[in-house]
Amino acid sequence: MEGGQLNYFFDMTKDSLDGHTPKSTNIVWHDSSINRDARSLQRGHKSVILWFTGLSGSGKSTLANAVNAALFAKGVATYVLDGDNIRHGLCRDLGFSDSDREENIRRIGEVAKLFLDAGVIVLTAFVSPFRADREKARALVPEGDFIEIYCAASLTVCEGRDTKGLYAKARSGQIKEFTGISSPYEEPDSPELKIETGSQDLQTSTQLVMNKLIELDLVSE
Ligand code: ADX
Repeated sequence: MEGGQLNYFFDMTKDSLDGHTPKSTNIVWHDSSINRDARSLQRGHKSVILWFTGLSGSGKSTLANAVNAALFAKGVATYVLDGDNIRHGLCRDLGFSDSDREENIRRIGEVAKLFLDAGVIVLTAFVSPFRADREKARALVPEGDFIEIYCAASLTVCEGRDTKGLYAKARSGQIKEFTGISSPYEEPDSPELKIETGSQDLQTSTQLVMNKLIELDLVSE
């Protein structure tokens, strides 16, 4: 990575603290002798964050996993960070209050940034309901490295699917603060990609994401 870009990474790290000073003091940043550019050169492709957002049941995880498989088949280094899975480990201490969701997305933004630096195409599948939190994650990385993919499916469709039975529980009050029912979902204003996952089949949706990646010169046809 060029010095300029490296400094940018440092600056954005500071900015991302959003006015909060880290608890730890006496910490010193250590440079790695292997940078992002070197990793991309070795792998033969650039890295990027594909940030899938949408209601529970909108098809984020399904689409992210299908794109992941398509990229893997092309020999691309990828990794999927999935909301339900990450909440079993890294974010097991978090619930679904607004502030816990904010912290969830903050951590995922930071983890995705590490994957970006590692030269991996990282796909994140989180409801990530708040615009401001998604924008903070975007602001952590250089412009162009955060591709927001809105999985557009109406509440009616998602609730109709109710694959995990959670909407029924949310309606009966067994689950509080459920996105779309008792907690808001803020649609992206201008996502890089809007995929109609409520009406389109998986193959078409996957191809549209792949087309975008080809258009952005991230993978070859
Ligand atoms: S986020 O809002 O913080 O981005 P995240 O994507 O990690 O949410 O987790 C959402 C998943 O947790 C949903 O797909 C659903 O399976 C489950 N879940 C459990 N409770 C809730 C809730 N109150 N609101 C939304 N999703 C919930």
